[in-house]
Amino acid sequence: MKKYDILALGELNVDLLLNHIAGFPEIGKEIFARDMTLTLGSSTAIFAANAATLGSRVSFVGMIGKDSFGDVVKSSLQARHIDVSNLIEAESAATGLTAILNYDNDRANVTYPGAMSIMGVKDIKPEVISQARHVHVSSVFLQETLHRELMEIVRLVKDCGATLSMDVQFDPEEEWEFDYEKILPMVDVFMPNEQELMAITRKDSVGEAVDAILPFINVAVVKMGTRGSLLVTREGRRLMPAMLNNNVVDAIGAGDSFDAGFISAYVAGKDLEYCQWLGNLTGAVNTTAAGGTGAFASKEAVIEAARYNFGQTLVL
Ligand SMILES: Nc1ncnc2c1ncn2[C@@H]1O[C@H](COP(=O)(O)OP(=O)(O)OP(=O)(O)O)[C@@H](O)[C@H]1O
Ligand SMILES: [Mg+2]
Repeated sequence: MKKYDILALGELNVDLLLNHIAGFPEIGKEIFARDMTLTLGSSTAIFAANAATLGSRVSFVGMIGKDSFGDVVKSSLQARHIDVSNLIEAESAATGLTAILNYDNDRANVTYPGAMSIMGVKDIKPEVISQARHVHVSSVFLQETLHRELMEIVRLVKDCGATLSMDVQFDPEEEWEFDYEKILPMVDVFMPNEQELMAITRKDSVGEAVDAILPFINVAVVKMGTRGSLLVTREGRRLMPAMLNNNVVDAIGAGDSFDAGFISAYVAGKDLEYCQWLGNLTGAVNTTAAGGTGAFASKEAVIEAARYNFGQTLVL
């Protein structure tokens, strides 16, 4: 019996969210944002928080600074029932921060990566990985050292006997350096969105991009926003339409919430169709409240949001 169902591995930062902004920022000018929130950020943290709410036992291996934003990260994770005993406090870097300028369905982000950019394979203890049934890695391009050492980290996870899921997220440098032929055979569930998949495979359509990764994947699930998700295995492809939300509050973290739903079902041993359904549902539920974790305050809140907004019966 392993101690954790899921170990989230990677970036931790705080998000400074600016809403109701009067136009777009311009050099040499100043504009107002009429609403501001400081909250736990990072794709991996949203994933971890929401997977814990859905009932998984979650721990986190990530790097923060010895500063007040680090304390915000730690207490926010604890408030979401995530084990923080495996967090690493960097001596030489501050906790990362993302400033998010939110405009309806989309946003412009500026990230100071800080401590999260220096975590590498030497910081990750095999005895910690061995305590987890499953490891989830996200935002591979945002984390400089993790990106450079990704092959070694993936190998370490597999050597420790855990299953592995990976969400690449956006590449701020837009270089999209990702050796999918070598990495994907070791990834049990690959979870990019359609733009990311086309970028890493250098293809112009999702169909061609899926063809390119097919020989190397175990399971892949491609997130397609309001069009839902595409599950891909060697046996076939299934497009599952989104559960449309006509009153989107914001779409921040929809992809991470999708990952949390899919993976919490996966580690519970559910079949892939259920995993995809729960991913679509938690992605949709995410859009009913502010930020990536707003709709995931408790199991009961998720169940009620699923019923009220989408007419879905969820048993957790
Ligand atoms: N407006 C919406 N209404 C209903 N469901 C949605 C909506 N937006 C997203 N979803 C669901 O959430 C899933 C993930 O969202 P999306 O495709 O935007 O992921 P992503 O691009 O990885 O997002 P992120 O920017 O959070 O990384 C979708 O596959 C879909 O099922
Ligand atoms: Mg995403």
